[in-house]
Amino acid sequence: MCGIVGIINSNELKVKSLNILSKLEYRGYDSAGVSFLSNKKIKTITEVGKISKLSKSLTSTYDNFHSVIGHTRWATHGVVSKNNAHPFSDQKISLVCNGIIENYKDLQKKYLAHYKKNIESDVETVFLVLKELSKKINDKYKLIKKLKSILRGNYAFLIYFSDTEETYALKAGSPLSIGKKMNSVYFSSDPSALDEYIYEIYHLHDGDVLRVSKSEVSFLNNNKVKFLPYQQSTNKFSKGDFKHFMIKEIHEQPIVLKNTQKYYDKDYFVDFRDKLKDLLQESNSFVFVGCGTAYHACLTAKYYFEKFTSINVSCEYASELRYKNINNKNSKAIYIFISQSGETMDTLMALKYVKSKGFNSIVITNSLESTMVREANITLPTFAMKEIGVASTKAFTCQLLALANLCLEVGVINKNLNSKEYLKLKKDLRNIPSKLNKILKMDNYLDKIVNLLSSAKACYFIARNNVFPIALEGSLKLKEISYMHSEGFAGGEMKHGPIALIDKEVVSICLNPNNELFEKSNSNCEEILARGGKVIVFSSKTSGSKKNLFEVILPKETYIDAPFIYTMPLQLISYYYALNEGTDIDQPRNLAKSVTVE
Ligand code: M6R
Repeated sequence: MCGIVGIINSNELKVKSLNILSKLEYRGYDSAGVSFLSNKKIKTITEVGKISKLSKSLTSTYDNFHSVIGHTRWATHGVVSKNNAHPFSDQKISLVCNGIIENYKDLQKKYLAHYKKNIESDVETVFLVLKELSKKINDKYKLIKKLKSILRGNYAFLIYFSDTEETYALKAGSPLSIGKKMNSVYFSSDPSALDEYIYEIYHLHDGDVLRVSKSEVSFLNNNKVKFLPYQQSTNKFSKGDFKHFMIKEIHEQPIVLKNTQKYYDKDYFVDFRDKLKDLLQESNSFVFVGCGTAYHACLTAKYYFEKFTSINVSCEYASELRYKNINNKNSKAIYIFISQSGETMDTLMALKYVKSKGFNSIVITNSLESTMVREANITLPTFAMKEIGVASTKAFTCQLLALANLCLEVGVINKNLNSKEYLKLKKDLRNIPSKLNKILKMDNYLDKIVNLLSSAKACYFIARNNVFPIALEGSLKLKEISYMHSEGFAGGEMKHGPIALIDKEVVSICLNPNNELFEKSNSNCEEILARGGKVIVFSSKTSGSKKNLFEVILPKETYIDAPFIYTMPLQLISYYYALNEGTDIDQPRNLAKSVTVE
């Protein structure tokens, strides 16, 4: 994972590097560090913890330096410690890396056998190997080429040599962009972090090797590279009046869903529909692929497609799909990848794998500048705007909306939906923001639920049909930001094992839309109450209140909008419970926003 930054030939390096690093902090926040560079000198400062801690350690102005490389880490190999923090540097070389070097143990055996010290991390290994190689290879380009030839894994490196004052950039698998403004050159794992600094941009391709000397950029493997004008993103990195990004992002849902729906209501679909028709002529199924929250969007899509279309649909965790045999020549599946960031390594690798087997792909993403967009046949955007909180909220509901719209298009093309049904369902989608606004105004249930959770040892989410994936999502939200043990179950599965978990210290949250399964889910609640468990029910219809059962009545739902209506209250209770627990809500322990390692 991790985020890397480089600023070559510029001023105000401290302010700029901290600013860019803090925008990359969503990629990991275990440790951070910078190397300031100039006049054959390297000055490195690292800290365990967040960028704010590094900022406190940068006491001087560093005006005498003209360049800097920096890093924010999500630990993979080696514990979280100052020793394992990047940059790895001495007075000759400094390097930062985003990614994993898979063959680092082999490299240690081959090049560092004489080394006494225990080398914990893959990147420290690379640093030490580079030092060894540099004893024999003087020419820096040859040295870098040699290094590249012995590395296995997915990575992006920035490497600075003090004697020649050159910076090299290497990319294989992990994202890296280079931007320019006048005589200054900038690097970042995420181009949007460079917003205020660059006029032109180039996204490195796998295999690219670049050298920056003073402000001159040479592409050592590819002469045809062209910088393109950079369009500033409209994304803001501010919490406004909110205490955390997460709660701000929950509240933004009505507006971002409205914007997303506007896009899907416009003429865009005329174009897209033609492409989709062509794809569907040669396809007999869809496979939805994602990780974490995005996988829950895949599961919800499966219910939508099964209800409104006749197409075969299945879902895959990206991390599993990558290692499956998909060489089935008779299958003409279209693979649909869902990713907020468009950079999740497992999803990206699954996309590349599927492409290499000749399948068509669609990406649904919130990041139109991302690597996945460059890999897929077609991109469907969500307009959630930048999501900073590690817990995905508005990105998830925008994914659901894009998927619901896609489903209705397929339904029309395949003649499963007539135009009256289609228009009615589209109207339901347009009404979602106003229903969510109503939910945002109902805050009377939150304290009570926070209290119930505070005295519980675990919380289970139970639901059926198209809100079952929302139970999984509710559980993921709660565990990731409050660290409470939680799981999501399909209501009908309770009696097949999970009900053994129920006792008086367990809270169960049942999502119970008013549909043909309403009574079945009521029975689930009764069975839990009968075993002394506490039950909270979210529904648009009361079941007739019972002892120990706390009901929250939500706006009336339809099949297509129910996943949205049942998601938002779960996001809110996770947030307020975590607030009560005092956890680090926007940057929960052990996590990162964008999982860019395998
Ligand atoms: O950027 P992506 O949508 O590909 O991220 C996938 C997951 O890592 C992500 O959804 C994760 O599960 C959420 N941050 C959890 O809230």
